[in-house]
Amino acid sequence: MIQQNISLLPYNTFGIDAKAAFFTEVFSVPELQEALQSGIQPVLVLGGGSNMLLTKDVDGLVVKNTIGGIQVLEGEGNTVHVRAGAGIVWHDLVCWAVEHHFGGIENLSLIPGTVGASPVQNIGAYGVELKDVFVDLEAVDLNTGSVKIFNREACRFGYRDSVFKHEEKGKYCITSVTFALTRNEHFLNYSYGDIRKTLETNGIAEPAIGDISRAIIQIRSSKLPDPAKIGNCGSFFKNPETARFVLDKIQETHPQVVSYDLPDGRVKIPAGWLIEQCGWKGKRVGNTGCYEKQALVLVNHGGATGEEVKKLAYEIIDSVEKTFGIRLEPEVNII
Ligand code: EPU
Repeated sequence: MIQQNISLLPYNTFGIDAKAAFFTEVFSVPELQEALQSGIQPVLVLGGGSNMLLTKDVDGLVVKNTIGGIQVLEGEGNTVHVRAGAGIVWHDLVCWAVEHHFGGIENLSLIPGTVGASPVQNIGAYGVELKDVFVDLEAVDLNTGSVKIFNREACRFGYRDSVFKHEEKGKYCITSVTFALTRNEHFLNYSYGDIRKTLETNGIAEPAIGDISRAIIQIRSSKLPDPAKIGNCGSFFKNPETARFVLDKIQETHPQVVSYDLPDGRVKIPAGWLIEQCGWKGKRVGNTGCYEKQALVLVNHGGATGEEVKKLAYEIIDSVEKTFGIRLEPEVNII
């Protein structure tokens, strides 16, 4: 059933009150194909609405993807393949995997959004990226309704990046994703950031995947705002990757600058650090602002418009560029 003139407020975690000219929710691939037969264009697919900033009403058809279902497929030895419907809430899949003792995605606990959105930006946290466990995905062509499989190579994953942010942007609705998880012998990764410290505080010497998941939930909840309480989309900007001489120059005035070496000789500098140095952390501008505990996150203090948030984002981008000569890029999809 296609509805008209529907508020998207409940469907985006920034809590922006934009309207869709046409709206439908689909629970299966045939339902999606039927909705596409209406011929209403353009089509905008929504998962959890947790990585988009709506700056105006949306013409055309908004499809809320609620395709569910988790299947355990064949796997060899220590590997198990799991196919999950794109509409499943990402963290629910993580909890399911932890309960079934399947390893590989525990470090991605509590990332907002749905399974279908996870490959689009190759979600990542605490030393693990989606591409590390990705097998393939099924997607429906929004123009023709035909089904296509994308393997890992076809997805062209990069840091918070994939083909679905470039050549294939807006052309497909991802309907399911297949993951390769571990069955018994897990490759635990808890060297990153505060995980080890949190495990110690929890009295865990030899962590199981559930312990790592719990530790990450604790860390994320202490630093990142809960979208149910304060509208946000997680990291608003990508961490910039830049030439080493840019870092050297910053070090002259800011010897405490944080950075990570990249395999190609360049460096990654945390955007949160750059933004904080420019004085934005915790700053409120009208109904929007920069989160007090993590400068990389922009928030809606209540009633903010998408335009207001976008304006703040570009003021931050300009200010970081003026101070450090680095132009930040939004990670969030601005619509
Ligand atoms: N930092 C600051 N000030 C801030 C925030 C961070 O100085 O306000 C510094 C910290 O001191 C730290 C460094 O920046 O040394 C890195 O901070 P953090 O570990 O919090 O991670 P991040 O680089 O800011 C990335 C991801 C997060 C992910 C964390 C943990 C991106 C764009 N963001 O943030 O992902 O949870 O690492 O792995 O890569 C998301 O995508 O929505 C998200 C939250």
